[in-house]
Amino acid sequence: MNDQSRTTKFLKDYAPPEYLIKDVALDASLAPKGARVSSRISIEPNAGTVAGTPLVLDGEALTLESIALNGQELEAGRYTLSPGKLTIANPPVGSFTLDIVTRCNPEANLELSGLYLSSGTYCTQCEPEGFRRITYFIDRPDVLATYTVRLEADRKSVPVLLSNGNPVDAGEIEGTGRHYAIWHDPHPKPSYLFALVGGNLASIHDTFTTASGREVALGIYVEPGKEDRCDWAMESLKRAMRWDEERFGLEYDLDVFNIVAVSDFNMGAMENKGLNIFNDKLVLARPDTASDADYTSIESVIAHEYFHNWTGNRVTCRDWFQLCLKEGLTVFRDQEFTDDVRMGPVMRILTARLLKARQFPEDAGPLAHPVRPASYIEINNFYTATVYEKGAELCRMLQTLIGKDAFRQGIALYFERNDGTAATVEDFVSAMADASGRDLTQFMRWYTQSGTPEIACSLDYDPHAKTARLKVNQVVPPTPGQSSKEPMHIPLKVGLIGANGDELPLKLNGETVPGGLLEVTEREQVFEFEDIPAPPTPSILRDFSAPVRVTTSLKPEQIEFLMIHDADPFNRWQAAQTYATDLIATAARDGLDLGPVSGPQAARLAQALEPGLRDETLAPTYRAETLKLPSESDIARELGRNVDTDAILAARDTLRKTLSEAMADTLSAIYAATATDDAFSPDPDSAGRRALRNAALDLMTATGTQEAIDRALRHYRNATNMTDSIMALSVLSHIPSDECDEALDDFYTRWQGDALVLDKWFAVQARAGRPDSVATVHRLLGHPKFSLKNPNRVRALIGSFAMGNPSGFNRADGAGYAFLAQQALKIDGFNPHVAARLLGAFESWKTLEPGRQAHAKKALQGLSSAELSTDAYEIVTKTLGSA
Ligand code: TRP
Ligand code: ZN
Repeated sequence: MNDQSRTTKFLKDYAPPEYLIKDVALDASLAPKGARVSSRISIEPNAGTVAGTPLVLDGEALTLESIALNGQELEAGRYTLSPGKLTIANPPVGSFTLDIVTRCNPEANLELSGLYLSSGTYCTQCEPEGFRRITYFIDRPDVLATYTVRLEADRKSVPVLLSNGNPVDAGEIEGTGRHYAIWHDPHPKPSYLFALVGGNLASIHDTFTTASGREVALGIYVEPGKEDRCDWAMESLKRAMRWDEERFGLEYDLDVFNIVAVSDFNMGAMENKGLNIFNDKLVLARPDTASDADYTSIESVIAHEYFHNWTGNRVTCRDWFQLCLKEGLTVFRDQEFTDDVRMGPVMRILTARLLKARQFPEDAGPLAHPVRPASYIEINNFYTATVYEKGAELCRMLQTLIGKDAFRQGIALYFERNDGTAATVEDFVSAMADASGRDLTQFMRWYTQSGTPEIACSLDYDPHAKTARLKVNQVVPPTPGQSSKEPMHIPLKVGLIGANGDELPLKLNGETVPGGLLEVTEREQVFEFEDIPAPPTPSILRDFSAPVRVTTSLKPEQIEFLMIHDADPFNRWQAAQTYATDLIATAARDGLDLGPVSGPQAARLAQALEPGLRDETLAPTYRAETLKLPSESDIARELGRNVDTDAILAARDTLRKTLSEAMADTLSAIYAATATDDAFSPDPDSAGRRALRNAALDLMTATGTQEAIDRALRHYRNATNMTDSIMALSVLSHIPSDECDEALDDFYTRWQGDALVLDKWFAVQARAGRPDSVATVHRLLGHPKFSLKNPNRVRALIGSFAMGNPSGFNRADGAGYAFLAQQALKIDGFNPHVAARLLGAFESWKTLEPGRQAHAKKALQGLSSAELSTDAYEIVTKTLGSA
């Protein structure tokens, strides 16, 4: 660790680079014990740089072999090496070249940042600051250069050599058994988009013809033997390429586009120019190894990384504070894609559920930060749900406010103005403002103020004037470092529903309100709707039009009414969630008075759900979502304080049981009607049918009876695809039994040689909410197939336990916290990025009841006095509230 690393960096301190690098020639010679990298970089002073300003290059974990300036070897006194830096105190005036030769050790690189080995394949991860672990460089995103890369390696063991851009040349190095390949990327790019790959890889190939008629060669590279799992990724890629042309007019801009799948990867995937590198979990799919959820996430992440080619690569970020500029926008784009090609109306439900589950707690806890953070200690810690998911919501709100056409024009203007440059959030928002003619000054607060706005709505009906007055209050709650906030500009979609279930036209000041879209800009605002014949029921925040929390003064009967009559599918679903959440939260809050979740109100919930479930005109995926009760974490979030996870589990289980019994006939009917002998197909209709059938199974078996166990075991045995097997296994794992052990053993025996499927085996056990689940994860930690070094395996076992098993992790005796702290500390010793992400599981500790809170605090304090990486240090101290 160098002295720089624990300092806080501020957005307000941004200064342009003193020097620019316009061109890079890199020569990497790959060998098992090390890699030798020679780089020739042409350096010029930036406009305004005073002659003689020292040149500072970033570099980490490098051994410098030589450095030459304008071809002349530099003597030791002409430059200095300090932790993380190489400084030339007196560089020449004007432009010059540096030739730098360094060595690095891919085999010893367990951080998985820079150049490393994954199952024998050389690969790189440079975002955000990994390029400095490959060579000395000005490693910041506003330094854009063109790259020519020559790779060299042993011909037999490393037959495939890939880098960014287009292939230029390749050949043998006579008499050495080695070969080389040369790649050139004509598009100027920041160093974080650099990539190289060398390995013994199998591949599948295809072509794509762009709208303007250029042919692009597509390749997907994987571990030999996995070629039969690449077709879905390839189809997804072609769909994404076509979609971006049709929706945004954006075409691909190189002759080749390659994807490489590796099994050791810190995140999901990386958008390196022309050479995306993926966690193999997000590439490989076959019906027997991947679930529908996997197929969906592969399609969306392939699209996400591809879409970065414009939003991120052609226009990149000026600095890392602007991360949402590329991530929020690209997530928005991939969501729109998935909406169009797969999910339809269910997409908004999935997106909102993810946002509430991941981003709302972040925004309400000690790690809250604005979508564009004002400061950070370690940028790796800011690839967050706030930057990604809330960032996407800001793009969506812009589209809602200015309209889809103006948004598309805004995107076009953004590229017209910023192509080939490193831009800021202001550049993006001003393009939207100029394209639409709207003033978006107030909207900018969404980027700078953290915290989830709270919207309180109440409706008064005036029978004489025949008006309905909707009063809206907004409060943005205080968050760390931000005590008082200004009101936000919020697109609020609403509807009013008449007693017979009909939608009432909305009129304000004699004008109809298009799309029911209100613009909330004040702390308190009143909208008076005219010509309302009788008291209506309001439907608020339709389509989840803004990332806010809403409270209404609706009575349970009105929520039941909305469950059945709301024309907005999102709010119909939301009404059922709200109803169930209220029941469970009440029971959990009142210390296990199970009346609300077992009595008449629960029966009424069942009754209100039935019509929608039996409605064959509704998409099966949508009906499946209706069957899923709010999660334990949803309830904890609703409670917000004094959380007892055991009480939540008990209350939720009781409601599931009540519904299971009350809806037994409907559930059996659905289960039977959705059976099929058709061969597996990942298409949306087939996947929807499986989703509905599996959701029915899940609720049917909530009784926990022997009959339920038998049914789940039959489901497991009859499964012909991974979606059904893993669902059966998950259901079984929640009901301890011999049958569960039998199924787990069977699954293990079948899949022990397959890393990705074995991850599911670890995860399903880690997620099983049982009192002894800490013991289960402890035992699995000692399993011969477990390894702390592989991030997927760590996330499968430790991550699933900490994030997916609330009652196990938050065990009243604190054993779950101690377990996580201990494992995270071990991982922190070699992979800080992965360790710090795991520690995010502590983010809501202050909402727990006092006993659990004390245990969590102890675990965090223990960590804070240990030797931590910068990454873990930032998370631990901020979570504790001591930084
Ligand atoms: N830019 C990647 C994305 O598409 C995120 C990413 C991949 C990343 N690898 C990383 C971020 C390593 C930090 C560190 O979202
Ligand atoms: Zn991304």
